[in-house]
Amino acid sequence: VSPFKRDAVASGTYSTGPADVASIDWDNLGFGYIATDYMYMMKCDQGGTFSNGELQRFANIELSPSAGVLNYGQGLFEGLKAYMKEDGNILLFRPEENATRMQTGAERMCMPAPTVEQFVEAVKATVLANKRWVPPPGKGSLYIRPLLMGSGAVLGLAPAPEYTFLIYVSPVGNYFKEGLAPINLIVEHELHRATPGGTGGVKTIGNYAAVLKAQSAAKAKGYSDVLYLDCVNKKYLEEVSSCNIFVVKGNTISTPAIKGTILPGITRKSIIDVARSQEFQVEERLVAVDELLDADEVFCTGTAVVVSPVGSITYKGETKKYGGGGVGAVSQKLYTVLTSLQMGLTEDKMNWTLEL
Ligand code: COI
Repeated sequence: VSPFKRDAVASGTYSTGPADVASIDWDNLGFGYIATDYMYMMKCDQGGTFSNGELQRFANIELSPSAGVLNYGQGLFEGLKAYMKEDGNILLFRPEENATRMQTGAERMCMPAPTVEQFVEAVKATVLANKRWVPPPGKGSLYIRPLLMGSGAVLGLAPAPEYTFLIYVSPVGNYFKEGLAPINLIVEHELHRATPGGTGGVKTIGNYAAVLKAQSAAKAKGYSDVLYLDCVNKKYLEEVSSCNIFVVKGNTISTPAIKGTILPGITRKSIIDVARSQEFQVEERLVAVDELLDADEVFCTGTAVVVSPVGSITYKGETKKYGGGGVGAVSQKLYTVLTSLQMGLTEDKMNWTLEL
C-alpha cells in the first residue's frame, strides 16, 4: 500500500514540479529549522503494527501530557539527507540503513518500529511532497528527520500503549557555523555521553539532551563542540556530541570501534569503505586520547556534519593544532569522494544512492 495520501496527490494539494521552488535565501542555509509543507505520520497501537501512514500538512502535533516520550524519554530519531541533481532528480543516501538502525534502537527502547519498506517509502513520499524545499544543486540538502515516539499515555513507568512514527524535513547547509572551515574541539573528561550497558549505541533522544551541558560550556568558551572520553578508563575517544571521530596518522585512519557506547554512524560506516577504496588502512579499535598528540589530521563524520575537518583539540588545557589552519588533505579527499557520490556527481559504484 502506497504511503501517499491519495486524495492529496490526486487533488494536487502539494507541488512536485521542479519549477516550483520555495522562496528562501538558498545561499545562506545553515543548520536551522525551516518549516516546510508536509510531514508524514503513522501510528501503531498495542498490536505492534504500523499502518495507515499518510502525508499531512506540516503542523504542530497533539500529544497527551502523559505521553511516554514526554515523561520517560521513550523516543528515537534518525537523520538522512536528500540532494538535488542537476537534472532535477533527487538522491537519497542509504535510507535503508536508517531504517534498520531505527529498528535496532526500537528494540533497545521497547518500541515497535516500521518495517524497512515502510520507512523508506515514507521517506520517499515526504521528500517528494516537499520537493520545492530541496536546495538547488550545490546549495545544500534537504535534511530528513524521522522520529519514533511513545505517544500513548502512561503514568507508571512502562512502555507506552501507542507509538507514532513521524517524518519532517528542513533544507540545510553546513552544520557548524565555521562552514567548511576546521572546527575546534575540547575533550571533556568529567561529563560522559554514554555508559557500558546504556543507550549510547542507539539514537535515542536522551543521549542528545545529556550532552547539552558540556556542549554549552564548550561553546561559551569559543569551542565548536566537545569530544567525549569513555567513562570507565577516561582515556579512550568515544565521539563528538553529534558525530563520530577519525584520527589520521600516515596512511592509517583510526576510529573508535562500535562497542555499545558509540553511535554506529552511517556516514562513519560509509567513510570507512570510501577510505579503504582509496587505499587507506582503516582501523576500528580503542583509540587513546594520547594518540591525538601525534596525529596528522582529525576529522568528524555524521549525516549533519558530513566530513568536518578538526583544526584543534584542547585537552586538559593543552591545545594541539592540525592542518595549519586549512583542511587536511585526507579529510578533503574523503569529503570530496563521499559528497560527489551523494550529490550524483560521480558514478555510484557502491550502490548507495536511491534516485527519486
Ligand atoms: C545527524 O547527523 O543526522 C544527527 O542526527 C546529529 C544531530 C545532533 C544533528
